[in-house]
Amino acid sequence: MSDKAWDGVFSEQTDRRVELFTESISFDRRLYAHDIEGSLAHAKMLAKVGLLSSDECQQIEQGLGEIRQEIEEDRFPFRTEWEDIHMHIERTLIDRIGDVGRKLHTARSRNDQVSTDVRLWIRDAIDGLDIALADLQRAFVERCETDHDCILPAYTHLRRAQPVIAPHYWLAYCEKLQRDRERLTDCRKRVNRLPLGAAAVAGTSLPIDRQDVARQLDFEDVAANSLDVSSDRDFAIEFVFALNLIAVHLSGWAEDWILWSTDEFGFLQLPESFCTGSSIMPQKVNPDVLELIRGKTGRVVGALQSLLVLSKGLPLAYNRDLQEDKIPLFEAYDLVNSCVRIAVPLVRLTRLNRESIAAKLDQGYLDATTLMEELIRRGMPQRTAHQLTGSLVKIALERNVPLHELTEQEMRRVHSDLDRTLLEVLGVKKAVEAFVSYGSTAPSEVADQVSRWRERLGIPSTAHAT
Ligand code: ARG
Repeated sequence: MSDKAWDGVFSEQTDRRVELFTESISFDRRLYAHDIEGSLAHAKMLAKVGLLSSDECQQIEQGLGEIRQEIEEDRFPFRTEWEDIHMHIERTLIDRIGDVGRKLHTARSRNDQVSTDVRLWIRDAIDGLDIALADLQRAFVERCETDHDCILPAYTHLRRAQPVIAPHYWLAYCEKLQRDRERLTDCRKRVNRLPLGAAAVAGTSLPIDRQDVARQLDFEDVAANSLDVSSDRDFAIEFVFALNLIAVHLSGWAEDWILWSTDEFGFLQLPESFCTGSSIMPQKVNPDVLELIRGKTGRVVGALQSLLVLSKGLPLAYNRDLQEDKIPLFEAYDLVNSCVRIAVPLVRLTRLNRESIAAKLDQGYLDATTLMEELIRRGMPQRTAHQLTGSLVKIALERNVPLHELTEQEMRRVHSDLDRTLLEVLGVKKAVEAFVSYGSTAPSEVADQVSRWRERLGIPSTAHAT
């Protein structure tokens, strides 16, 4: 007969093809540390409530400690016929310490065990990712100082729109990453509830103390319905959704920098050590890291789809389908984690091509809105000011000159009230300085924001921050 944990009721051995089809050890071995952590807390609780003697508990603790060490040192044999990480650890414990090991699974099922393991794993993943995201924010904030006086065009519809200072761009990415961090923190609250003790589906008739396990494992709360926790992976889906927005944010930034580093834009000099070449075209220096950040996002989005489709229409409570959750979960995390980490040095090492940016700032009428707002300030209704400025741009376009080169005569042709004093507000530098509203690119506003970010991220303050 086989040596399965469930073989009491079976009279046939599991087909080898089924073992290979149903195994999850090839991917859930990654949960080993969290599985052991959960088992240790469970055993201690069993001892406290009298379901294990303190000697038995000690033997279990020691056995689990040794197993953990063997896995860490790559000395642990994994075998597909033992199905998953939970069975591997329990089976090995029983082999080592005999009948005492057979008590560990008291008042527990793999259904609540796997949910516990995955929650512990996600908790660690969130904490590590939060640190990496803060590093990326720091990299952007630290750029603000070096780039404080560089003016860049802001785009809408990928058409030149208005001038902004470079730190305004860098802080835009910081804001997005901050919301990503907040989403992770918020998601962590729902991840951080103890499922263990729900057992298979209905709980247990044994006198367990779930609050005690929750305290030991630092869970904020104990899941209140055994059917619910046995069946649901919403916490994992939510985490992967949070990962998706990080990936989407990074891919937008990557796209900006891919464009900006082209000869056509010429805004950025990417570090050569972060570019790769072509096997046929000798002149190519390609932004592959950025392209792969953009590209990997597709797989992260796919992972979310997988989890949602996996979960839809499942009847209460545990179903084996749920075993498949770990593949997209781990994949999404690995992808996003690697993207965030590679982005940090790239942000630090990339340089703005100040001259080539400045040389083109006169193009695209970035100061047209400033002119319109000056007319509004002089008492003109916005719609009229918009129309008159549009007509001025049209004349300038025909002559291919910037707005400040329009003649008095050309201006009067548009409206008799217009004169060249109006043009004193023009030029990208003056346009930037004219901004005043909160959240705008006004240099003093941005400087305030930079110091706020430095404080928030624990970056020592300097003489001038923008
Ligand atoms: N490997 C399984 C999973 O990841 C563990 C739970 C299995 N439970 C069961 N009754 N077959 O979902």
